Amino acid sequence: MAASCASAASSRRSLAFPTVFLCLISHLLCLDFVAASGGGSVGGLRFYSQRYSVAPAYAPVATYGPRVSPIVTPPAPPLAPPVAVGGPTPPPAGSPLATPSPLYPPPIVQAPVVSPVATPTTPPPPPTAPAPSTVPAYAPKSWTPVGAPTVPASSSVPLYAPVSPPLAGVPVSSPVRAEVATEKAGAAKISAMEVPTTHKAWTYAEYGPPGVLKLEQIPVPDVAADEVLVKVHAAALNPVDGKRRQGKFKNTDSPLPTVPGYDVAGVVMKVGKEVSKFKEGDEVYADVSEAALNKPRQFGSLAQYTAVQEKLLALKPTRLSFAEAASLPLAILTAQEAFDRVNLKVGQSVFINGGAGGVGTLAIQLAKQVYGASLVVTTGSAGKVDLLKSLGVDKVIDYKKEKYEELPDKYDVVFDTVGECNRCVKVVKEGGAVVALTGAVEPPGFRFVVTSNGENLAKLTPFLESGKVKALIDPKGSFTFSEVVEAFEYLETGRATGKVVIAPIE
Ligand SMILES: NC(=O)c1ccc[n+]([C@@H]2O[C@H](COP(=O)([O-])OP(=O)(O)OC[C@H]3O[C@@H](n4cnc5c(N)ncnc54)[C@H](OP(=O)(O)O)[C@@H]3O)[C@@H](O)[C@H]2O)c1
Repeated sequence: MAASCASAASSRRSLAFPTVFLCLISHLLCLDFVAASGGGSVGGLRFYSQRYSVAPAYAPVATYGPRVSPIVTPPAPPLAPPVAVGGPTPPPAGSPLATPSPLYPPPIVQAPVVSPVATPTTPPPPPTAPAPSTVPAYAPKSWTPVGAPTVPASSSVPLYAPVSPPLAGVPVSSPVRAEVATEKAGAAKISAMEVPTTHKAWTYAEYGPPGVLKLEQIPVPDVAADEVLVKVHAAALNPVDGKRRQGKFKNTDSPLPTVPGYDVAGVVMKVGKEVSKFKEGDEVYADVSEAALNKPRQFGSLAQYTAVQEKLLALKPTRLSFAEAASLPLAILTAQEAFDRVNLKVGQSVFINGGAGGVGTLAIQLAKQVYGASLVVTTGSAGKVDLLKSLGVDKVIDYKKEKYEELPDKYDVVFDTVGECNRCVKVVKEGGAVVALTGAVEPPGFRFVVTSNGENLAKLTPFLESGKVKALIDPKGSFTFSEVVEAFEYLETGRATGKVVIAPIE
């Protein structure tokens, strides 16, 4: 269009002024179009429309589709991909998540309410103008509303320390301004934050024991239009990382070499051009792989940087450290999805097999604090009883001394994190539900694979901000970034308590 305008202007000089005027008008119309469509480029400058939208309220859904049909008996293939048992799982109508209750307050993203004006009395009080509040009435003032910026969008101060020297012998080019890389990739908004071209990451190129892991210098991942680049501050390990590395899911795995790691907490460095809910400087956390087993993220979180789809991210609860936040996503989403799938209701009784693990410690807290279970019983070994009680458990069965399936008590909901569905089905009440995470299942039990979802994570923010639900890092404390092999060896003993976390990652 600019070229045709220029040629028209040179051939008909007497019409130069009207032509330039028309060019200007049509140019402005083009700008309107690119703004409406989310962005564009004019005269070498990039334009982006900034759309901060709030997460939709938790919409109740009538059903999950058919209740998951039991996966009956082995030999079962490796855990079926999520599609086999249903996609993301909003709670059914009637669940405590679907119906706002004192136990599960409305999401903290609703429109601000104005402080009520005092009812006039006689004689009327002197006129005092109540200051309008922008804080939702039901949220403590310290809460950060989901979607609200935590640093000024214009901040150009790098929020992280310079990366450590590269690995010996590996050539590293000097850091580049993010906007240079951005323009090259054509996917991200202009960034004022510095991102290096390479970073340290744990990788493996062959399946095997933890020893196949190597710390290497590799390119920082590009971000797609719907992704953000996160500077990783902390990551956590999950048993699925080990199972993947052992080749147990090789038929559905992403290609090797790969960077393991699902759980991440860190700071947004760069955003893709379709990203609207997050901006540079936001402190976020996520399970970076939407489907845990079906083509999980090839370049995961055990690295200095990782790219994450916007839809998987949530703002980090301000009360939590990066290490605490990183300990949560995969495990807490698993517990949440399990209870949503069985429609756990206020006042029901729950039996959790394996309460001391990464999933179990969070499942106990969610059952009590979020879903309002009246009774939570779990299995654990003797040394972990006090800890489990501190999480809200009513009774701990020492699985090394007692056979829980031989006890008289029965429960509305049974959650098996150990792989003993055949025993767990014996402790469920008639008409109750048994949900399993691993191992063979038998009716009425069923198994599912967690689906990562940032909005579901954000729904738990009020409970994490209030301290009703706590992150539990293994008593050994966080492992450093150089101790990832040792951390995997420890997790794979099957004796970890709470979560095995890698922090800090600088
Ligand atoms: N399907 C999914 O989407 C999904 C999602 C997450 C996890 N998972 C799977 O679920 C399982 C649990 O995950 P996790 O992260 O919780 O594992 P984890 O943290 O490694 O679990 C370790 C805990 O399990 C306890 N434990 C071990 N054997 C037990 C037994 N026989 N009875 C009771 N407790 C026992 C241990 O306590 P003691 O030291 O007292 O024995 C330990 O505290 C893993 O197989 C994992 O792969 C599946």
